[in-house]
Amino acid sequence: MTLNRRDFVSGVGWAAVATAGARTAIAQQAAHSAVASAAAAPAAVVNYADWAVVKEQFRLDPRWLHLSQFFMVSHPRPVRAAIERLRDKLDANPFATVEQGMGFGDQPGTETYPAKVEQAAARYLGGQPDEVALTDSTTQGLALVYNGLSLRPGDEILTTTHDHYVHHEAIRFAAERSGASSRRIALYDAPAAASADEMAERLRAAIRPHTRIVGLTWVHSCSGVKVPVRAMADVIAQANRNRDEHDHVLMVLDGAHGFGNQPEAAAGLGCDFIAMSGHKWIFAPRGTGLLWAPARNWPLLRPTIPTFYAPEPFQAWEDGTPPGPTRAAWVSPGGFKAYEHQWAMTEAFEFHGHIGRERAAARIAALNTQCKEGLARIPGVSVLTPMAASLSAGIICFEVRGQTPQQTVSRLLQHKVIASSSPYKVSYARLAPSLVNDEREVDAAVRAVREIA
Ligand SMILES: Cc1ncc(COP(=O)(O)O)c(C=O)c1O
Repeated sequence: MTLNRRDFVSGVGWAAVATAGARTAIAQQAAHSAVASAAAAPAAVVNYADWAVVKEQFRLDPRWLHLSQFFMVSHPRPVRAAIERLRDKLDANPFATVEQGMGFGDQPGTETYPAKVEQAAARYLGGQPDEVALTDSTTQGLALVYNGLSLRPGDEILTTTHDHYVHHEAIRFAAERSGASSRRIALYDAPAAASADEMAERLRAAIRPHTRIVGLTWVHSCSGVKVPVRAMADVIAQANRNRDEHDHVLMVLDGAHGFGNQPEAAAGLGCDFIAMSGHKWIFAPRGTGLLWAPARNWPLLRPTIPTFYAPEPFQAWEDGTPPGPTRAAWVSPGGFKAYEHQWAMTEAFEFHGHIGRERAAARIAALNTQCKEGLARIPGVSVLTPMAASLSAGIICFEVRGQTPQQTVSRLLQHKVIASSSPYKVSYARLAPSLVNDEREVDAAVRAVREIA
């Protein structure tokens, strides 16, 4: 008798408690009703063309002005409904729902919940379902990439001074383990004066013969600067023109704050790996993320965490044969999850699909421009983030003369405005208007800053 994946995940086996026929009937019924009820969920009868309707989808406490939505998501109504439906299924029959929903039976299919998430994500980011791994966060995605790429002593990871702690730590771990070195460069000196040409030029000048990875961040949460990712990818492509294939520089992007607030499809940016959060601008459930790479790059990664999302690695464990080149699904970390959250990612991509990627980006840019212009008119307030929408995306860093960022944030809290301070060595106060806000709220936040300034 050979083990199948069901035996692997269930241990004692469903067979011990049910006859084969009954087991199949129960599992099929649970799976059918789970998938059918998700599919039968009320679709786009809601008029998302109206921004007030989009805003109404969130159950945010109306006593506060929520201008830090980029930090951690509030679930919109369709995502909440999907989570509740899935939670009910899981509570009613966790075994059958997980076994069938994950395709742990003998014939894992394309109708599993993870497959549906991958399809919805691929539609949104412009790639293919088999180019997507499901993660818990941007942090996890970055760790899987840096830990999974093979680096040798003498190789260099080039990154910038503007990246998040989790990116620099993932690089440090990989460098220490492999003997590779790492180096950070500044892409700009003053964020407000950042320019796309200068960022590309500084990167071009910094790449050395032994540079193997360039780690960048789409939107800097330390400054609000948006990096011209396509132009940076072109610089790297140029550096690769005269290199052997195995010496190619790979571009790794932290997409936490561009994914969900930019008009471009992430898969078209020219990156080699993009780690993204579900639980920020995408409005997917908390504790979700994605890792995307073009099909040609997955074989470069060695999985870090055993997967539950593809049968081959488990089958190889049975047979003792190595599973061959890595596929995206093998990189999706296994271990049982809060599946009602992971599987409800589909509804978040559908929600964005109804709104439209470009429309959402234009709305966020308009609210941010309104906010930046309002702040810039207040005496004693300096806006650090560039004014141009081409160089910024959803996050506004500012300073109030004579106040620390923490003082600004706590004084704004007294005015019922939820701002944040950036968790970096040089910290600024931040406001981040998004689809949960409207023009009136942005005006009210600017008025509050005027009062505390
Ligand atoms: C630039 C950047 N990268 C990564 C993260 C971490 O995101 P996640 O919670 O998805 O790991 C953050 C947190 O806000 C961030 O600002």
